Amino acid sequence: MEDLDSLRSELMTSVEGAASIDDLEAIRVAEMGKKGRITAMMKGLGNLDPETRKAAGQNLNKLKSDVADALETRKSEMADSELDARLMDERMDMTLPPRPEEEGRIHPISQTIEEVVAILGEMGFSVIEGPDIEDDWHNFTALNIPPDHPARQEHDTFYLPGNGGDERLVLRTHTSPVQIRTMESGEPPFRIIVPGRTYRCDYDATHSPMFHQVEGLVVDRETHMGHLKGCLIEFCRAFFGVDDLPARFRPSYFPFTEPSAEMDIGCTREGGGLRIGHGDDWLEILGCGMVNPKVLENCGIDSSVYQGFAFGIGIERMAMLKYGIPDLRTFYESDLRWLRHYGFSPLNVPSMVGGLNQ
Ligand code: PHE
Repeated sequence: MEDLDSLRSELMTSVEGAASIDDLEAIRVAEMGKKGRITAMMKGLGNLDPETRKAAGQNLNKLKSDVADALETRKSEMADSELDARLMDERMDMTLPPRPEEEGRIHPISQTIEEVVAILGEMGFSVIEGPDIEDDWHNFTALNIPPDHPARQEHDTFYLPGNGGDERLVLRTHTSPVQIRTMESGEPPFRIIVPGRTYRCDYDATHSPMFHQVEGLVVDRETHMGHLKGCLIEFCRAFFGVDDLPARFRPSYFPFTEPSAEMDIGCTREGGGLRIGHGDDWLEILGCGMVNPKVLENCGIDSSVYQGFAFGIGIERMAMLKYGIPDLRTFYESDLRWLRHYGFSPLNVPSMVGGLNQ
């Protein structure tokens, strides 16, 4: 018994005195591991007579569990203080200025999307996203583009391998399917914008197989063409930073809007360059129209009560025009020199009050 008491105080002292979690582990192995002292004493119990064995066994078990508890307690104290020390050590001063030589750049596509969202967000639109992989119904049929419709050919669709018919999956050719998803799953009124990637099998200086659009959709009881025009004229003036920017709407055709229009803004090409604003020329900028009643009905919305307008903005085109980027393919070449030249400071977040980089 005396032996055990002195072993107990010896072990408790060394647990107290351990300087690290590794020290504690060494103690555990030396005492309670396979070849440990306590383990050896446990094995020795077999040689004792039954009466002595019972009492000695109980004492030994108690010692073992007390030492194990002491080791555990010390270990968690140490883990806490190691974490505290690390937190102190890794503390960062967030008020320090950034190191300018390490500043990354925001890609003009991200920047342009942020600007569009900042302007339309201020007007009361909420941002919604949808899947890049779509089914035939959302990308085409519900938008009044049935299977045999010629507009399908114009979309140069990427089809995914799999079933034909309505279950066939495609890479969405426009952001308009998110109009359908929104109208199918909610109740009007709607006032949404949808930034996102879109895909068409096309590649040259003004087309890329992956590109970006921002879709807009407003549905309410009394939404009319005047709202569409006011909204888009305001948007273009804010985006290009030209307060008196001339605009016109030319009749056009999209299966999902009726009537449909193409919006042009004023520009001049004098002296070789393109300048947006008053001038003698027009530049096509986006497609828009009043939501076709058939589309509303396809989504279960009563077209005798509700009407709406929609528009689709091509982000690459907007970025090229605003920032004078001549070739669309360069957006996706990941050339760091290009990004340093055309990219934006991450600290300069576009907003209506803070400015939009014009
Ligand atoms: N979805 C059309 C396109 O990609 C653009 C558009 C959207 C036109 C909404 C009208 C209304 O070409």
